[in-house]
Amino acid sequence: MSSSQDVQKLVKSKLRGYKFIIVSNREPYLHMHTPDGVRVKTPAGGLTAALDPLMQATGGTWVAGGSGDADRECVDKQNRCRVPPDKPKYVLKRVWMSKDEVDKFYFGFSNQTLWPLCHNVFREPVFEESFWEGYKHSNALYAEAIKQETRGIDKAFIWFHDYHLALAPKMVRNDTWKKQKLVLAQFWHIPWPTRDIFALLPWAEEVLEGMLANDLIGFHLPSYCVNFLASVENVMRIKADYRRFNVKYQGRTIQVKPFPISVDFDAIDKIARVPGVKQEMKRVRAPQYIPYKYIGVGVDRIDYTKGIIQRFRAIDRFLEKYPEYQNNFVFVEAGAPSRNRIPAYMELNEEISKIVGKINWKYLRGYWKPIIYIEGKLDLNRLFALYRTADVCIVSPIQDGMNLVAKEFIAANVGSTGVLMLSKFAGATEELKGAVIVNPYDVEGFADAIRNTLEMPPKEKRRRMKNLRDNVKKNNVFKWLSDFICESAKFIS
Ligand code: G6P
Repeated sequence: MSSSQDVQKLVKSKLRGYKFIIVSNREPYLHMHTPDGVRVKTPAGGLTAALDPLMQATGGTWVAGGSGDADRECVDKQNRCRVPPDKPKYVLKRVWMSKDEVDKFYFGFSNQTLWPLCHNVFREPVFEESFWEGYKHSNALYAEAIKQETRGIDKAFIWFHDYHLALAPKMVRNDTWKKQKLVLAQFWHIPWPTRDIFALLPWAEEVLEGMLANDLIGFHLPSYCVNFLASVENVMRIKADYRRFNVKYQGRTIQVKPFPISVDFDAIDKIARVPGVKQEMKRVRAPQYIPYKYIGVGVDRIDYTKGIIQRFRAIDRFLEKYPEYQNNFVFVEAGAPSRNRIPAYMELNEEISKIVGKINWKYLRGYWKPIIYIEGKLDLNRLFALYRTADVCIVSPIQDGMNLVAKEFIAANVGSTGVLMLSKFAGATEELKGAVIVNPYDVEGFADAIRNTLEMPPKEKRRRMKNLRDNVKKNNVFKWLSDFICESAKFIS
């Protein structure tokens, strides 16, 4: 499976006659007011980037929360618009929430309760009744939008995404399943914690009941599936089948299965070779930008799970321990701001600017400083130029469901000159065998790994990168999509 056209054919053959609906909180295109008029933006984060090519090929409906400040001006009476705006291929149906609803649903239960809980409580989850009420209410808004989109239709395949929508599957099934043929599936893009951690959630049972309305539930890794099944056993007192990875509930068998998400390798490889990227590679190396011997790069959504602080501590130790790299090594970090209303994220922003300021001041020499911190999303040519020029890309989460930056870097490193340094706590580590693996908490080991990586012979770099590229090329996003769709299609009678 190597292209969105292949997946399109598969969807057509496997889901024949079924309306194809994707549901996620984050929308793939936002309409924003700018001084030059309304412009379209795409969000940071792997989920939308992974699914948009599929929707462009299959042409279904994507139900998502409207979050652009010009979104309401760009929809019809049914709150729909066709996207991508310059070449419309599918319908985007927007769900509206007030500021208070967003506060409780998105900034509250989704990102202050479930997010830290599922990332193994690296920040203490907030267990707040009003967040839970808001989460139920917003899930009902999504369920209502789905009902509108399935009205008059007798068959639909509805694919829910992520932790924002644990309750919507049950709401949809309760209301419509007797009259319609529905296949409901959910992909959970973040880790599932151990059963003891999940049991901390006061509403654990309701969350599981909501999810068990699906026919298929997908996670990135087998270990998350096992944790999920163990949570179902623990909280709901139902026996799970660990051999077949399923559980029987209310007369249905719910399949739980790992599907490691990936990127569109060929598309990224192609973009990385365009003339604009090559020009930008020269500019990156120009005397007024980064004329130093070694370049490292990091690209993240600013989130405490991404281990950005741990990465900077390791860079500090590396420069201290191996002073010959001072004035020789620059690390470019591009951090896209995220979830800024949440106290933990505000604190992290402050912590990042403090540590960057401290390290840069400590080593500052003339024009050279070790860390260039860019707040925001990089322009595509610049991003790919950095991926191609970098000696090392450091992806060091303290906990991450998968991490698509790692795979994006591999696909863009067309010259096989760079090395991927990957945290042992990223889901991607299970697959990406040619990466240099680090523990982000082990400052000494991490600092040494940076040095060893920079000194790695070019032949060894190429060998590792070639393995990684072969792997990501084969296990690309279309394989993820087709595996998920084939498994879902087993529920079509
Ligand atoms: C993670 C989640 C996605 C989410 C993305 C960006 O990858 O699994 O569901 O969309 O982060 O976060 P945001 O809060 O901006 O949607």
